[in-house]
Amino acid sequence: MSTYEATHRASIETPEEFWAKAADGIDWEKRWYKVLDNPEPNIYRWFSGGRLNTCYNALDRHVERGRGDQAAVIYDSAVTGTKRTVSYAQLLDDVSRFAGVLASAGAGKGDRIIIYMPMIPEAIVAVLACARIGAVHSVVFGGFAAAELATRIDDAQPTLIVSASCGIEPSRIVEYKPLLDEAIELASHKPRHCVIFQRPQVEAGMTKGRDLDWQDAMATATAHDCVTVEATDPLYLLYTSGTTGQPKGIVRDNGGHAVALHWSMKSIYGVDPGEVYWAASDIGWVVGHSYIIYGPLLHGNTTVLFEGKPVGTPDAGAFWRVASEHKVATMFTAPTAFRAIKQQDPDGKLIGDYDLSAMRALFLAGERCDPDTLHWAEDRLGIPVIDHWWQTETGWAIAANCLGLELLPVKAGSVGPAAPGWDVRTLDAAGEDVAPGDVGAIACKLPLPPGTLPGLWNAREKFIEKYLTTFPGYYETGDAGFIDEDGYVNVMSRTDDVINVAGHRLSTGAIEEVLAGHPDVAECAVIGVGDAMKGQLPLGFLVLKAGVDRSPDDIIAETVRMVREQVGPVAVFKQAAVVARLPKTRSGKILRGTMRQIADAEEYKVPATIEDASVLDEIGGALKAIGYAN
Ligand code: COA
Ligand code: AMP
Repeated sequence: MSTYEATHRASIETPEEFWAKAADGIDWEKRWYKVLDNPEPNIYRWFSGGRLNTCYNALDRHVERGRGDQAAVIYDSAVTGTKRTVSYAQLLDDVSRFAGVLASAGAGKGDRIIIYMPMIPEAIVAVLACARIGAVHSVVFGGFAAAELATRIDDAQPTLIVSASCGIEPSRIVEYKPLLDEAIELASHKPRHCVIFQRPQVEAGMTKGRDLDWQDAMATATAHDCVTVEATDPLYLLYTSGTTGQPKGIVRDNGGHAVALHWSMKSIYGVDPGEVYWAASDIGWVVGHSYIIYGPLLHGNTTVLFEGKPVGTPDAGAFWRVASEHKVATMFTAPTAFRAIKQQDPDGKLIGDYDLSAMRALFLAGERCDPDTLHWAEDRLGIPVIDHWWQTETGWAIAANCLGLELLPVKAGSVGPAAPGWDVRTLDAAGEDVAPGDVGAIACKLPLPPGTLPGLWNAREKFIEKYLTTFPGYYETGDAGFIDEDGYVNVMSRTDDVINVAGHRLSTGAIEEVLAGHPDVAECAVIGVGDAMKGQLPLGFLVLKAGVDRSPDDIIAETVRMVREQVGPVAVFKQAAVVARLPKTRSGKILRGTMRQIADAEEYKVPATIEDASVLDEIGGALKAIGYAN
């Protein structure tokens, strides 16, 4: 039996033993009384009774054990031309003092703190300072509009918000403060204070009495010690898109999360403490939480915080420069980034300009990786390129070729076998396993391993309904695909209305809500159409109200502006078509799946339940007119 098989089998047959052993990698204030608790049917908790502090495990213990001078964070900002290395000792000092700032501004254990920040070291300081005082952070990605931030403020009800004066995109400076002020104005809940980090590029206007200046507050702050929390207490909330416009607040606990992420660094990614690990993502996404911040720091690695893009900052060699300069051992990014690089440097000539001899593996996740991109990266880099699959909900990989256990053959198009801890199945509508190679809904048998979502913030029923009801005894991933004869998982598509744009998870429902708010729009639908670089792009269909005789182009342009203002630029909503009707089933359900197949010029069957099949020809015509369905 291979090492992978033996490890996977042990994790499924004796999960408590398996994860209790992994928990030795974490320092506990008090050991748990139960490794796996099952307080009610289908609801599980890891390490009940255990007490710890996640920040202590990420920083203090490394400094106490001699890693104080090692780089904890290498900040490399291609958009400002700045590089800064922060040692573990320095980061501990900064985090302890910022924890003091948060505490004196009124935040304590269990309070929520929203962090709306660009990719600067202070964002990591803010995250860890929350963990230090037992507050629950909720990071909101900078590319979202004020209205999206407001929704999260109302749901999380934060005591404080931590932000910065601006983010820097290659083409423009994004002033965060006006967006933050607008979001607070829109939200019913008002935070007590906002702590604002002033970047040299923009000075944010401050609201007297409410806003505190980060630098001023830090100058007089006193260090705050770690507050011990329960293993089952929440460490953070991270909002992600579901089928509706209301995002879901994924909860992450302290104990299971620390154990799983620490374990994953060696077992999945194959890195040892002291090595440099780089996840080229954003702290606003789960990849950023797990593998820019927590995983590497819990494990005593050096993490790279890159503020820039794979192309255009300044060129398609940016990733290779960063990897070679900082001697990155393992790298992690989204396939989109590689498609962007490949488009600008098809032969990978720029790779030759850099010494990448330290790099042992490249991991990809966030969206389906097309085999061409995988092979291109393999051929140019000459190292294993490993696609692995996970979700905001799971916090770490559900399926992966676990490099640290043993490198199994890489199969392009597959995300590898189930990771230890995961009993992954493909099920039919009745909940029965389908045969190897047949497509089914991908579900994971309960209990899920540590580090996965114990629930949704303030939405217990929704949690049960969304994830645990369709297939009793299983977690429903929302993805569909097949498992081959060798146990390799292939993730093909979503089973819901979630789309994936440049590795960013978006809800078509959220965009539809905005379109429906246009005064001339009677009805609308949004689908994700295939895009060579970003994987998918949202495309809208608008049915106008009777009697509207304005130019369709003007109406479309207005909806594009509205989505940018209300969801954010990250939605990349740029195209729509005005149509007379939408294809529907007899019960009135819009046939988005069929529309997507037509747009992507895939073979499709006319659904038996369609109300009027001739609408599909009209949709095909409208799509052809804007360059799709060819
Ligand atoms: N703050 C504010 N705006 C942001 C932002 C942020 N943090 N991130 C993105 N945006 C904006 C961009 O400026 C752009 O706006 P524009 O319409 O004015 O040009 C828009 O949102 C879309 O951004 P993006 O999807 O990044 O597209 P791009 O064309 O600027 O770059 C890629 C294309 C491929 C280089 C980029 O999508 C990329 O790096 N993808 C990797 C994704 C990734 O790491 N995903 C994480 C999951 S692992
Ligand atoms: P997010 O929660 O933003 O990480 O998005 C999770 C979703 O992205 C998954 O449910 C999948 O639909 C998709 N996804 C993530 N990684 C992969 C992958 N390696 N292959 C295919 N799809 C992926």
